Amino acid sequence: MDHLENLRRKIESRHAHAGVVGLGYVGLPLAVELAHAGFRVTGIDVQASKAEAVNRGESYVQDVPTSVLKPLVEAGKIRATTDFAAVAQLDTINICVPTPLRKTKDPDMSYILSSCQEIAKHFHAGILVILESTTYPGTTDELMLPMFEQGGLKVGEDFFLCFSPERVDPGNPQFQTKNIPKVVGGITPACTQMGAAFYRQALETVVPVGSTSVAEMVKLLGNTFRMINIGLVNEIALMCDRMGINVWEVIDAAATKPFGFMPFYPGPGLGGHCIPIDPFYLSWKTKQAGIEARFIELAGYINGQMPHFVVDKVQNALNDAAKPLKGSRIHVMGVAYKRNIDDVRESPALDIILLLQQRGATVTYSDPYVPAIKLDGFTLSACPQDAAALADCTVIVTDHGAFDYPSLLEHSQLVVDTRNALRGVTSQKIVRL
Ligand SMILES: NC(=O)c1ccc[n+]([C@@H]2O[C@H](COP(=O)([O-])OP(=O)(O)OC[C@H]3O[C@@H](n4cnc5c(N)ncnc54)[C@H](O)[C@@H]3O)[C@@H](O)[C@H]2O)c1
Repeated sequence: MDHLENLRRKIESRHAHAGVVGLGYVGLPLAVELAHAGFRVTGIDVQASKAEAVNRGESYVQDVPTSVLKPLVEAGKIRATTDFAAVAQLDTINICVPTPLRKTKDPDMSYILSSCQEIAKHFHAGILVILESTTYPGTTDELMLPMFEQGGLKVGEDFFLCFSPERVDPGNPQFQTKNIPKVVGGITPACTQMGAAFYRQALETVVPVGSTSVAEMVKLLGNTFRMINIGLVNEIALMCDRMGINVWEVIDAAATKPFGFMPFYPGPGLGGHCIPIDPFYLSWKTKQAGIEARFIELAGYINGQMPHFVVDKVQNALNDAAKPLKGSRIHVMGVAYKRNIDDVRESPALDIILLLQQRGATVTYSDPYVPAIKLDGFTLSACPQDAAALADCTVIVTDHGAFDYPSLLEHSQLVVDTRNALRGVTSQKIVRL
């Protein structure tokens, strides 16, 4: 039997041994869905602490409860290792490693490269490899394919290679790995069919597309769309601020139009591993083709100004109360990059805290999800919410559902609300974005 037919049968009977490389926010939930579908799953991560936690059945990812992971580990459906020799036993591999930007805003491909180098050492015929990490169009085809073809195996016949963007939204109670439609594109039509057949076993909706580059571009379009619209609404917020107009009321009223408008909301700046980063993958790639991604650069600039704008707001609000920012005590509510999650990657709260400190303020913070943050060589630990009562100004940076907002307003001297968390509340103490 040829490799194509053999692998297809293993996948459709769910006897395939599935591998997930990179057991983070994306990889661990995927491993769980594959195991739920009946596949035996081996996770590979360079961090021994993560592999050990998985093997104890303990989750460190908010969207995967330990009560869900543990039975799968105990039943032998999921195990984890740091040893890439496991690749020799695998029929499929999903690669979910980080893809950050370098300081220069160039893509950092080192995680993809090093995981593929390790996979290549144990590569064999009859395997399906799918890259899920967000990246620039062309990565799967130009960077990965040559590494796997080195041993003389032929893509689409001996092995199968796809890209499938991960579109998970951590903390979203409605849409998770299982029910977010999964786009997949292969190097050849046989690769696409194999990738789609694999995901159909575990996920609700699969959307095959014509190539790996289309699939790569799908993810970048989605995140660029969000980043630019947030940039636009942030600019509208700056305009409204200058003109004394309540931007939140404007957006709510505009959103009553039943067609042709989608509300986006201003905020203290972009955060997370995706929206502030992914569009720069696109602009980096298009520069090579001689096209300047001007919308991306502009939205990046406006969004990058928002932490400064928030700090100016705090300073002006204190000045109005005849207090200088220098020497004041500021309490920041929420440091995660968005509500109800524990992720501080690229969080604007970190910039805001540093800017406040640079202007001479003493800063404390509360966040039920983040016990401590590392900032420029020192660590700040979270305080209970009532520390706000000791501050000259409270700044709501992340509107976690767990905060007690009526009590916060009662005990704060002044509140700068960057998220409209105090929607509908009228008080002289509130300064809105
Ligand atoms: N977090 C999200 O919300 C999200 C959503 C959609 C897409 N993505 C994309 O998915 C990818 C993974 O993101 P994440 O949030 O899961 O990252 P993460 O940092 O939570 O997890 C990545 C894991 O990969 C491991 N790793 C690093 N190098 C490795 C290597 N060479 N071999 C094996 N394991 C290695 C790390 O130890 C870590 O556990 C990124 O490209 C990201 O842009 C993330």
